[in-house]
Amino acid sequence: MTEAALILRQRLNETFAGEILKTAIILGSGLGGLVGELNDPVHIRYSDLPAFPKSGVSGHAGEVVVGRLSGRLVMVLAGRAHYYERGDAAAMRPVLETLKALGLETLILTNAAGSVLQDMKPGSVMLIDDHINYSGMNPLIGEHTDARFTGMTAAYDAELKQAFRNAAHAAGETLFEGVYMWFSGPSFETPAEIRMARILGADAVGMSTVPEVILARFLGLRVAACSVITNYGAGMSGAELSHDETKTMAPLGGQKLQNIIKILIGEIG
Ligand code: HPA
Repeated sequence: MTEAALILRQRLNETFAGEILKTAIILGSGLGGLVGELNDPVHIRYSDLPAFPKSGVSGHAGEVVVGRLSGRLVMVLAGRAHYYERGDAAAMRPVLETLKALGLETLILTNAAGSVLQDMKPGSVMLIDDHINYSGMNPLIGEHTDARFTGMTAAYDAELKQAFRNAAHAAGETLFEGVYMWFSGPSFETPAEIRMARILGADAVGMSTVPEVILARFLGLRVAACSVITNYGAGMSGAELSHDETKTMAPLGGQKLQNIIKILIGEIG
């Protein structure tokens, strides 16, 4: 068990002894609102957890919050490490290994993303059906066991996808579905890259999530992921892109995603 897992287990036992904790949710940029929805929250800073990412991106708090949502105990991870911070695609591995060590089974990832489709406007929510790893990087490079040859045919769990669709329907929210393409960042794409992404089959582009999905599948976690669309891809609207825009636009779709996740958690436990 990792040191962070031991610390978390002890802290969580103080408040939630004997309760079942199966699901973790990683929050993307500007999507921290879900933390405020948790009842009886216990906050543990990443800085108190060995090997957890320390460097933050503005818009990310850097804390683990465990609390009740729709009557179920969930772990929310507010803050993620990105490949673009240090060139380390496995930056989130200690976090995901900690979830595994604590016995969590399901990982729900969220992110802010750019839309490649005219019909999927900023403020939309897109369930990730599948991804394209366009970064050329892989968080399992350097892993020596044969488990590194992780199958990605059904990376995004079919049952969880259906649960997302049902939850969106129950929440009265439109849920797009599509392919998320991982660009390394941190610069945004060019208009030519966005045209390429569309031709290659992407519906949304972003700088996160894919390495975490790969690691989570490697560890045997069930995965679902959802994007909040904060902007049109470069060249689609004429405006220059910025991280400020990501942060100010994220809460718009973020509220919709929160409504969906609240119902989803009640259904999947
Ligand atoms: N590109 C990449 N990442 C993003 C974008 C984008 O347009 N919007 C939010 N994250």
